[in-house]
Amino acid sequence: TWTTGNVIEEQVAAIREQVGDKRAICGLSGGVDSAVAAALVQKAIGSQLTCVYVDHGLMRKGETEQVEKDFVAATGANLKVVDASERFLKALAGVSDPEQKRKIIGREFIRVFEQAQLEILQEDGPEVAFLVQGTLYPDVVESGGGTGTANIKSHHNVGGLPDDIEFQLVEPLRQLFKDEVRAVGAELGLPDEIVQRQPFPGPGLGIRIVGDVTKERLDLLREADAIAREELTAAGLDREIWQCPVVLLADVRSVGVQGDGRTYGHPIVLRPVSSEDAMTADWTRMPYDVLAKISTRITNEVKDVNRVVLDVTSKPPGTIEWE
Ligand code: XMP
Repeated sequence: TWTTGNVIEEQVAAIREQVGDKRAICGLSGGVDSAVAAALVQKAIGSQLTCVYVDHGLMRKGETEQVEKDFVAATGANLKVVDASERFLKALAGVSDPEQKRKIIGREFIRVFEQAQLEILQEDGPEVAFLVQGTLYPDVVESGGGTGTANIKSHHNVGGLPDDIEFQLVEPLRQLFKDEVRAVGAELGLPDEIVQRQPFPGPGLGIRIVGDVTKERLDLLREADAIAREELTAAGLDREIWQCPVVLLADVRSVGVQGDGRTYGHPIVLRPVSSEDAMTADWTRMPYDVLAKISTRITNEVKDVNRVVLDVTSKPPGTIEWE
């Protein structure tokens, strides 16, 4: 019979068998899948695992700390954090086209991650032969079922390394659905904030700023997003709502009035959606009083935001994200 305990026991044995006395690397994204995969592998091989977290500066409030502190506290994993936020800001400067933003973020991410991998390869210790990935059963089905290897090409000119390194993949979640992954994560002691996290795009807040990405705009959006998330959680809506992107219309200004003065600020868009799988979605008919609370708080507490609007578009024709 299927129990989380059995799954963990089986996977721990399988991982030990596969990795032997070699070392493994796991990239953490802040999301559920990579965190649970890493926690399982950590349980199996302990210090033979090194986790890598690339901080691209596009995460929401508290998320990087969640990985740095809570994940490490819960698992005891070795974690290498690379603060690359300056590098990402530089690469994104002046770019407002959504596809270009995605390309730049993806490219920089791979470069930073590979650099971190190369540094780990150069450390003393057993050979680093494995890369851990949080592939789930639906991903396996979608991609036709193969398991494989991953190449890294050292185009960074780090001396003394082979040109092309091949890792074997360790994919301990390949037989699991999302809700099973959450159950395994909870059983492994990961905090709810990680295990129950709603979907969040890899490019992060970079694709939730309509306009180009700056540090100031990111800080502003982070504040507005934190308020919305706090109120949605307080209202008990986290399960009903699949996710609620909070979007800053950085290139739009509108006139408002606050205190005894005229304002000329930016709108924030709330995009609460209900969905089964993100392929289609409907806008969530959420309670007016919760919307009112979020709107009041955001306009009072976030500098330069004087208007909050609600996106009432389903998918299709709208996508969930604005970019
Ligand atoms: P859209 O906007 O296409 O989003 O309706 C569907 C789901 O995918 C998420 N999303 C992403 N996830 N990298 C990700 O890991 C991405 O580049 C990306 N873009 C969108 C989005 O949040 C929603 O859950």
